[in-house]
Amino acid sequence: MKTLIFNGSPRKNGDTVSLLKHFFERLPGEYKIVEAYRCNISPCMDCRYCKTNKGCAIQDEMQEVYDYLKDCDNVLIASPVYFSELTGPMLSVGSRLQTYFCGRFFRKEESGLTTKKGAVLLVGGGDGKTNQAYDTAKILLKNMNCKEIYPLVCSHNTDRVPAIEDAQAVAGVEEIVRFFEREQ
Ligand SMILES: Cc1cc2nc3c(=O)[nH]c(=O)nc-3n(C[C@H](O)[C@H](O)[C@H](O)COP(=O)(O)O)c2cc1C
Repeated sequence: MKTLIFNGSPRKNGDTVSLLKHFFERLPGEYKIVEAYRCNISPCMDCRYCKTNKGCAIQDEMQEVYDYLKDCDNVLIASPVYFSELTGPMLSVGSRLQTYFCGRFFRKEESGLTTKKGAVLLVGGGDGKTNQAYDTAKILLKNMNCKEIYPLVCSHNTDRVPAIEDAQAVAGVEEIVRFFEREQ
């Protein structure tokens, strides 16, 4: 089993990472993690290369992510909520999925990606709502060919309770592992 994980948090020992550690301790198989704040992945520049060509003109770490996406089984997007959205760098990395949109919409080509399962893990201080961030994450997952997406797992009270002490969120992380382990 191969799992791709996006970490949208800047904090090395923050709420997202604490739940991700719990996730990694249980996740079988191999995984690759993309650190949105630390990776060498530029935003999409809307150069239009992918309107007529497969792949992406920008040669950076995203090329490894495209390779991994060809045959991985699962994708997890884990991120704090900023102003009710995914964090800016997480959206920036996500913008590079535009090549898959263009493949479907303009080039009318098969993506060549395996069918995957997807899940979203969000943390937030407790302000506003999480549905906008979840909807955005689902759009990104669909562009990566995630056909089945697990209901949102969320710790949305971190200003008062650290995410790792949120029993419901911790149980949700364990459920994501079981969901990923299940046969498609
Ligand atoms: C710029 C910024 C915007 C934020 N916006 C929200 C928000 O809209 N809703 C919310 O519940 N928390 C918001 N927060 C709080 C973080 O989501 C919260 O502290 C989270 O637990 C941080 O996760 P991390 O430790 O994994 O980075 C915001 C924090 C920052 C820095």
